[in-house]
Amino acid sequence: MKKISLTGIKPTGSLHIGNYFGAIKPALELSKEYNARYFIADYHALNQVKNPAELEGSIREVAAGWLASGLDPENVIFYRQSSIPEVFELSTMLMAFTGKGLMNRAHAYKAAVQENQEKGIDPDAGINIGLFTYPILMAADIILFDSDIVPVGKDQVQHIEMAQDIAQSVNATYKADILKVPQARITESVAVVPGLDGRKMSKSYDNALPLFGTENQLHKLIMRIVTNSQRVEEPKDPDSSQIFLLYKLFTSQDEQNALAARYKEGGMGWGEAKEELFRVVNRGLSPLRERYNAIIADKKGLDSILAKGAEKARPIAAATVKRFRKAAGID
Ligand code: ADP
Ligand code: TRP
Repeated sequence: MKKISLTGIKPTGSLHIGNYFGAIKPALELSKEYNARYFIADYHALNQVKNPAELEGSIREVAAGWLASGLDPENVIFYRQSSIPEVFELSTMLMAFTGKGLMNRAHAYKAAVQENQEKGIDPDAGINIGLFTYPILMAADIILFDSDIVPVGKDQVQHIEMAQDIAQSVNATYKADILKVPQARITESVAVVPGLDGRKMSKSYDNALPLFGTENQLHKLIMRIVTNSQRVEEPKDPDSSQIFLLYKLFTSQDEQNALAARYKEGGMGWGEAKEELFRVVNRGLSPLRERYNAIIADKKGLDSILAKGAEKARPIAAATVKRFRKAAGID
């Protein structure tokens, strides 16, 4: 039997190419080797996003984004967290096995407290219990589906370790393997995709290239890439330019060698380098953009894909909860 991989995607904004190369593409690769499950973590997003139109839009954009990127809903299980009530049942049960101290140590919560302390305000100001218990909900997402591996970025490793602790605590209590203990699969091999200003591309830094923006938008943003003041005739170092690093993501080795040689010779200005980057990014993203536009325009079709995914997911979820309830004496 194939092992199970599962990952959750928080719908908190539009997808950018850092998300694609750093998370979407490597996670989709796993569907060849694993029984893969992907879900939209909409209740996780609710902790941050309180504007209903924005949340609804993000859920649809992120779902369409994964499908346009090649997720095959026939071959994997793809659903919304909010369609699986067992997530919340399991989450409540797991709370009985989770030390408050463990949650106190969660990075995201600690960072929020520290920020308040630095401002000299109440340490708990603006922190909801949803943020505090976030790792428990995430543990439920993972454990519910008997996940063997969870592909995540480094920032999520602590959450997986907490899910392990919680599952082990349940198993130790009942002296049986009630819940599967998951492992993190860190997508380390993927380099951090740089943003327009050279820092990590992130929606929080206003430096991102959207995965599904229009051609015009893409062109404008690429022209905004920050460069040094080297003149056209000066030789340039490809590897220290984010223009070249982005170029590499969309081109063959031959194309990269050819462009690197032109940089090193001199005679290529940053303006031309940006035009060349735009050409290859647009070439690479056009087919994705077309698929995305078709999927997002078909609201019923998208709803039906997600509903079918939930139908496939629920029996698996119900079996886990049943097993746990039985062990706990709540049969
Ligand atoms: P953002 O930094 O824009 O808020 P998220 O934290 O929502 O992005 O990231 C979602 C996923 O995309 C994570 O797995 C993260 O590791 C990956 N990711 C985000 N930005 C980048 C980047 N610049 N390079 C590589 N991977 C990234
Ligand atoms: N916390 C993850 C993030 O911020 C999203 C997430 C929620 C998740 N539940 C998950 C990821 C379960 C993997 C498995 O990116």
